[in-house]
Amino acid sequence: MSNQSHTNRLYYGDCLTVMRGMRPGSIDLIYLDPPFNSARSYNAIYKDETGRPLPDQIEAFCDTWQMDEERARAIRGLPVLMRQGGISDEATEFWRLLMNALERTQPTMLAYLSYMAERLLAMKPLLKKTGSVYLHCDPTASHYIKVMMDTIFGHNNYRNEIIWGYRTGGVSKNYWPRKHDVLLVYGATETAKKVTTHNPLQERIYYDVNFMGTCKWDDARKKWYADVYVRDVWDDDTIKAVLNMSSERMGYATQKPVALLERIIGTSSKKGDVVFDPFCGCATTIEAAHKLNRGWIGIDIAIHAVKRVSSVRLKDRLGLVEGKDYFIEGIPLSVEGARDLWERDKYHFQKWAVEQVDGFVTDRRTADGGIDGRLYFTMSGKGGDYLSSMVLEVKGGGVGIGDVRGLRGVLERDDAAMAGLIVMEPLGDRQAANFHREMAQAGDIEVNGVKYARMQMLSVAEILEGRRFDTPSRVAGRGEKQPVLPGSTTTKSS
Ligand SMILES: C[S@@+](CC[C@H](N)C(=O)[O-])C[C@H]1O[C@@H](n2cnc3c(N)ncnc32)[C@H](O)[C@@H]1O
Repeated sequence: MSNQSHTNRLYYGDCLTVMRGMRPGSIDLIYLDPPFNSARSYNAIYKDETGRPLPDQIEAFCDTWQMDEERARAIRGLPVLMRQGGISDEATEFWRLLMNALERTQPTMLAYLSYMAERLLAMKPLLKKTGSVYLHCDPTASHYIKVMMDTIFGHNNYRNEIIWGYRTGGVSKNYWPRKHDVLLVYGATETAKKVTTHNPLQERIYYDVNFMGTCKWDDARKKWYADVYVRDVWDDDTIKAVLNMSSERMGYATQKPVALLERIIGTSSKKGDVVFDPFCGCATTIEAAHKLNRGWIGIDIAIHAVKRVSSVRLKDRLGLVEGKDYFIEGIPLSVEGARDLWERDKYHFQKWAVEQVDGFVTDRRTADGGIDGRLYFTMSGKGGDYLSSMVLEVKGGGVGIGDVRGLRGVLERDDAAMAGLIVMEPLGDRQAANFHREMAQAGDIEVNGVKYARMQMLSVAEILEGRRFDTPSRVAGRGEKQPVLPGSTTTKSS
């Protein structure tokens, strides 16, 4: 297959799995901005088309690393993976000892580093011999990540560490305000000496103030500028953090500025090259790569990052049409695809099913009585419109009458007005009749003279055919009247 046929693709899934199916030596530039081990859970806030935030935050991704049985198994397997990846015995032994020490002293860091090691090992063979890689991280783990990059990409291939300094709100008295990220830059091989096509790069850098005293005034941009050699400290105003008022803001926590990616891609690749971002979030890299006429591949494990945020961005900001100008892979389009996702990743199957019916995933880490999601709609009452919801439960495996009764119990305890059950397989006639009888006992609700069954069920096949739960008007629907949202939250900047 030619490179062309691989590119302009967004994959939904764990980059580890996707990368194992990618062609070795097919990528010119990798930029990765993985979770930072910041022990926070980032939430992207969905907005409806009027720009108002919806009341529930969607888990964008969990940046909290836990040492569970699955991770412990992965750690035990890491020395073997390293040897298979061509890492020397000495370096493998060094990591084995370090991991033993971290297991006792910093298990969370170990969980994070081992997760990263597995993915970096899968990433390396994808790079062309002339390629380069930029790993974006912050000081939380950059010291360990640099040693890991030295191990996997080779210390001889280390090119530089770039400091990206930004100005965002929030300072602490306890330490110097933490306002920089770290970009570790490696070439694919020792001979690929030049990671930049311009060396050194002279660029017009913009500043809000003429702090150097030598800047010139650009009347069109109303900013000071200087034509300077770009150093490895990027703290100019050309690359500004994405703040609440930024026009490029997608409402995706951790979104990076396009200008940052434009500088990296513009200097470390050329037209027609393939740029790859295995943790692509809301597609900042993709936007920059496309603008600069590079082919691109992006992966993200969050379905809404791929299906909602990124595809909206590519359409609105670049006029790209899915299925024509680019392709989304890994999102089930058939019942077989859904079963496959269930087998591979149960949580992501549930997430997919909830989002298919316009629902919002509930945080799996909260005690939520087994609810997988919620779907919001407006109800009318004496005091005017108010927000109500349908609790959603997704069953990927077998389902029995006990599940229906359990969901009915949740509905009675919760302040939701309705409950929806999503099942993988269509039920046989007898089972369906039993389920419907049980669900009918929950009764109806009436809104503006229209009755809606309080409990409803859909199969995956029906969802894929376009059927949805029958509810009063949805909050996210186009042109819907918007209710006042209780306890609306605000987003934090990246
Ligand atoms: C720091 S954010 C990237 C933000 C991105 N640079 C942007 O500007 O939008 C990290 C992203 O990695 C994704 N992610 C986490 N683990 C992943 C994995 N194993 N495979 C693919 N994506 C993953 C998260 O869903 C999140 O969107």
